Amino acid sequence: MKPPVDGHNREIDRWIRNQLFDEVPIAISVIGPDFSILRANRQFRRMYGPWRGRRCYQVYKQRSTPCEWCAAVETFRDGRIRTREEEGGGQSGLPSHYLVQMAPVTRRDGSVRYVIEMSTDISAVKRLEAEKREAERLAAVGQTVAGIAHGVKNVLMGLEGGMYAVSTGMERGDDERIARGWVMLSENVTRISQFIREFLDFARGREARVRLCDPNEPVRAVGRLFAERAAAAGIALEVRPEPGLAPAAIDPDAIHTCLANLVSNAIDACLATEGGRACMVTITSQEEDGVLIYEVVDNGHGMDAEITKKIFTQFFSTKGSDRGTGLGLLTTNKIVHQHGGRIECISTEGEGSCFRIELPRDALPRPLESPAVKGACGHRPRAGYSDTLLAANDAEEA
Ligand SMILES: Nc1ncnc2c1ncn2[C@@H]1O[C@H](COP(=O)(O)OP(=O)(O)O)[C@@H](O)[C@H]1O
Ligand SMILES: [Mg+2]
Repeated sequence: MKPPVDGHNREIDRWIRNQLFDEVPIAISVIGPDFSILRANRQFRRMYGPWRGRRCYQVYKQRSTPCEWCAAVETFRDGRIRTREEEGGGQSGLPSHYLVQMAPVTRRDGSVRYVIEMSTDISAVKRLEAEKREAERLAAVGQTVAGIAHGVKNVLMGLEGGMYAVSTGMERGDDERIARGWVMLSENVTRISQFIREFLDFARGREARVRLCDPNEPVRAVGRLFAERAAAAGIALEVRPEPGLAPAAIDPDAIHTCLANLVSNAIDACLATEGGRACMVTITSQEEDGVLIYEVVDNGHGMDAEITKKIFTQFFSTKGSDRGTGLGLLTTNKIVHQHGGRIECISTEGEGSCFRIELPRDALPRPLESPAVKGACGHRPRAGYSDTLLAANDAEEA
């Protein structure tokens, strides 16, 4: 590239001095400490109209008094550059979105003399974002409807089979056939109501009920919940909460649901293991560098990479439509995200799986109640997410 020629530089300097201010597609105003607009560029006039002799809040917000939360005031106070998004109506009267930046013009002693306010119209970007969100929502709705149709179709086949057995049994006076058909009917009715209940629980969700409590409480509760089922299946269930963990702002019922979903899957994976080896499931908690970690490890049948990739997607289940709903891990993932955390799974086919939930303490949501309720985190087993789980367990145990 050729080095810049002096003449060009002078021309550019002149343009910067004389025209840049008016030609940039950004509305710029210079504001004094009393909110008066001292100078504004052409784009500003285009976007907000006449400004001479007016205050910023009158022009930007059509207000008669200063805004309650004013970024310019803050920049006057601390001299820092600020950026934020604002909504408002400009000249056009249409809803518009602006990216507003405040920059200080300082005196030699560092005090702020003026604040320069620059706003860029980002309405087009916002419109594209909204369109993308809507497209994603519609895609999710489509996927959901397909999943429901699939789940219901399988159950309908079971109901039809049951009806056929009952009606042919009645025609032939075959009581044993009627009884068999009746069992099929009632199993499939139970199945469809469980599916719908789990799905509604997932779809409706609920606000996290966050309280400061012992992070080990859900670990112990899930250990107690599954002790009998594991023992009956000959699975060694080990519960190892790290002693002395400081209270954390979590929704203990929701974390209970997560761990219970993981343990329920781990037990399923052990039960489906071929080869008769001794099966075990371990639930642990620990803390590393301000991150709370829960792990559920099993030595069940494990998964290959293809399956592992899909397990957090809606309705994905390898358990067949009579046992799995494919909603457990999806719900678990959602709860973990509500807590500002992440979940990952490491699995080896034929050897077992490890599910790990990481909750950084500094990303945990704010508790709803005062710390005075510390320790009062008894589970309400029939509330919110737990419904899904207990309904599933009840059905499985029945
Ligand atoms: N511990 C595990 N070991 C092996 N496979 C697992 C394990 N946990 C989950 N999976 C796989 O992930 C799938 C989705 O799990 P989930 O969302 O709980 O639905 P569901 O249990 O109803 O099938 C399971 O069907 C199974 O294929
Ligand atoms: Mg499950």
